Amino acid sequence: MSQFIPEPFRIHHPLELNQYLVGGEIKRWNGPVIEVNSTISSTQEGDKTYLGSIPDIDEKAGMEALHAARAAYDLGKGLWPTMRPLKRIKAMKKFTDLMLQQREEIVKLLMWEIGKSLPDAQKEFDRTIVYIHDTIEEYKNMDRDAARFHRHEGVYAQIRRGPLGVILCLGPYNYPLNEAFALLIPALMMGNTVIFKPAKYGVLLMAPLLAAFASCFPPGVVNIVFGRGRTLASPMMKSGLVDVLALIGNSTSANALQEIHPKKNRLRLVLGLEAKNPAIILPDADLDLAVSECVAGSLSFNGQRCTALKIIYVHEDIAEEFNQKFSKKVDELIFGNPWDPKVFLTPLPEVDKPDYIHGLIEDAVSHGAKILNVKGGERTSNFIWPAVLFPVDHRMRVFHEEQFGPVVPIVPFTDIHTPLDDMAESPYGQQVSVFGQDPQTLSPLVDVLVNLVCRVNLNSSCQRGPDMYPFTGRKDSAVATLSVHDALRSFSIRTFVASKDNEYNNQILKSILDERGSNFLHTDYLL
Ligand code: G3H
Repeated sequence: MSQFIPEPFRIHHPLELNQYLVGGEIKRWNGPVIEVNSTISSTQEGDKTYLGSIPDIDEKAGMEALHAARAAYDLGKGLWPTMRPLKRIKAMKKFTDLMLQQREEIVKLLMWEIGKSLPDAQKEFDRTIVYIHDTIEEYKNMDRDAARFHRHEGVYAQIRRGPLGVILCLGPYNYPLNEAFALLIPALMMGNTVIFKPAKYGVLLMAPLLAAFASCFPPGVVNIVFGRGRTLASPMMKSGLVDVLALIGNSTSANALQEIHPKKNRLRLVLGLEAKNPAIILPDADLDLAVSECVAGSLSFNGQRCTALKIIYVHEDIAEEFNQKFSKKVDELIFGNPWDPKVFLTPLPEVDKPDYIHGLIEDAVSHGAKILNVKGGERTSNFIWPAVLFPVDHRMRVFHEEQFGPVVPIVPFTDIHTPLDDMAESPYGQQVSVFGQDPQTLSPLVDVLVNLVCRVNLNSSCQRGPDMYPFTGRKDSAVATLSVHDALRSFSIRTFVASKDNEYNNQILKSILDERGSNFLHTDYLL
């Protein structure tokens, strides 16, 4: 019985995705498949919903994708890496137009596959489109800046950024479209070729885009494979033919993959990894603001964001009031299916996540923490209500582990060095949120915090956006930086043409520019 699901969001037929994209060709997969189920039920009995299946591609087919990407790059000699910027931009724009036509289908799949609420799923799609537009504009900016010639010590130079080669792109399940495309799009824009393997969840939503990729880019520039990382990504890395590993996920898999690459000096890394972003609530903080930012920061998309607030330090003077307000707000949140109105908490896509979170709660309680909110820890088949745990300390697993789910540990402090020392010792270093207002307290605090993480949020929760700002981290949290601008840099290298300032060379340079025969050496001003 699916009468509780509004018509536009119902699954009428499972999507049996038996295709993948290699060498410009959408190939049919006749081998084994992996079932895709949603933890969201379409029946009153509460069973999972069968959404369809994806190919469980084997090593041989996976390596074909790698070789297709290699052939398209052709060690830098390929059509795409040597193409004129304007032509690459045209391909990207055409792709964006085709992608826009799939908005409804992709948003629906985001809801079913990973339980993202309707507004958040729409936001993920729309933000990705904006990201592509911004990337194109930024690429034009870079190209315009590079149009001029430099002259130093009698040598002319035109300096641009060139591609790096073949990129293996592995995305995460929590932003299966946005974060994957925040790697894929700049990598392509700069002239690289890619093999993309989506994460464990949020895979079917690539189905409506296969044809668009195939029709907009030259053969082999984009290759999309489905299946298991161990079967697909490991042999590719082992071959030594991957030039850049672009991965949003955890450091264990990132380390394992780079470990097997035979030429580590050649391998470049663009990694967005785990984090345990803290909030620090100072005694003079505006508590209502701190509470609402911390609820959103810790529990948006059920806490399944790398930028989520995963531990809250609250000063003892205000702990009681903060805890009481915070717990009340958490219990007032609305849980439901992604399309339900005003829903904030939604089903967890990972079947074993409720058990894992339950384990964290039990462990914390066994070491003396209390569950402050009435609903904390309540279970349904696909959810566990966020427990607000207090007081949390070093002995508890939830203090150290990146929960990536609905549970909120709160640590009391009296001395500001407590959170600072913990952050300094932590293996992570992405962002922090500080709530307070006294400039004399905040000034020296900011000076230390900026060296412990890469973004200090004043009186607001942590987040990746605006995408124009640098998104990165220290220690185990990231390698390289991803903003619209920085991603273009991360997927490219400076390369240039130099010529001594003399009559002979200048005449040659002038002819090359006048005849417009080079795609690199030119003074076009892209509008
Ligand atoms: O999972 C990590 C995402 O990049 C976080 O992005 O802060 O916009 O939710 P967000």
